[in-house]
Amino acid sequence: MQTTAKFDRTIVCNMCGAPITAASFVRDGEAYCCEGCFLKREEYRVAQIEHDGTVYLALVEALAEALDVREHETGLHSKRVACHTLVLARRFTADEALLQQVYWGALLHDIGKIGIPDAVLLKQGALDAEEWKIMRTHPGIGHHILSGAPFLATAAEIVLNHEERFDGTGYPNGLHGEEISLWARLFAVIDTLDAITSDRPYRKGVAFENAQAEILGMAGTQFDPVAVAAFVAEAETLRNMVKVKCGKEL
Ligand SMILES: [Fe+2]
Repeated sequence: MQTTAKFDRTIVCNMCGAPITAASFVRDGEAYCCEGCFLKREEYRVAQIEHDGTVYLALVEALAEALDVREHETGLHSKRVACHTLVLARRFTADEALLQQVYWGALLHDIGKIGIPDAVLLKQGALDAEEWKIMRTHPGIGHHILSGAPFLATAAEIVLNHEERFDGTGYPNGLHGEEISLWARLFAVIDTLDAITSDRPYRKGVAFENAQAEILGMAGTQFDPVAVAAFVAEAETLRNMVKVKCGKEL
């Protein structure tokens, strides 16, 4: 319990050794510690909680939610692509900390759209050349948003790379092949799978098999053949996940 009091004898902080006089202090069992050390210790405890990802996950999901609100989106696109990207990523690593970054990167892939003006972001109909120029800044904005958080470094790279294409025709940097983060190359396949199989206001989603055929047709151009091979290897799992998403047989 934190309190203040006058002492009639010299009491020292059990952490830093400084005398505690009339300043705020904390009784710690039979000992005392000064307020500064108490706060440091609490910060350390929070850091320990963060280390297991619990607090970070809540913050990252809150950020993703913020974008959903901004886009007037009530769907679960971001969570779906994050879960589906993990299915592919697990073929390449068993490192849970890395997988957590992949999940966060996929979840926040479009977070930079928070910085896109309403007139562009919420426009009904096709964007013109100038509007596309603005829209293409969203991976960079997203990377900038996340780059202040060292624990999100890999996720930030996925965000920056998520609109790149294997053949170099993507944006914002026109990266080729393995210049693009592996996780972003896996994500690109999943993002397209979700786009093709989801209902849109202007068209119905198509069957998983049709989406698969389209993705196979883009191996080596839009998509990394390695990512497409992982997709094919996990097709049955992904097909079932897409089926759950739609709540109907496809
Ligand atoms: Fe995007």
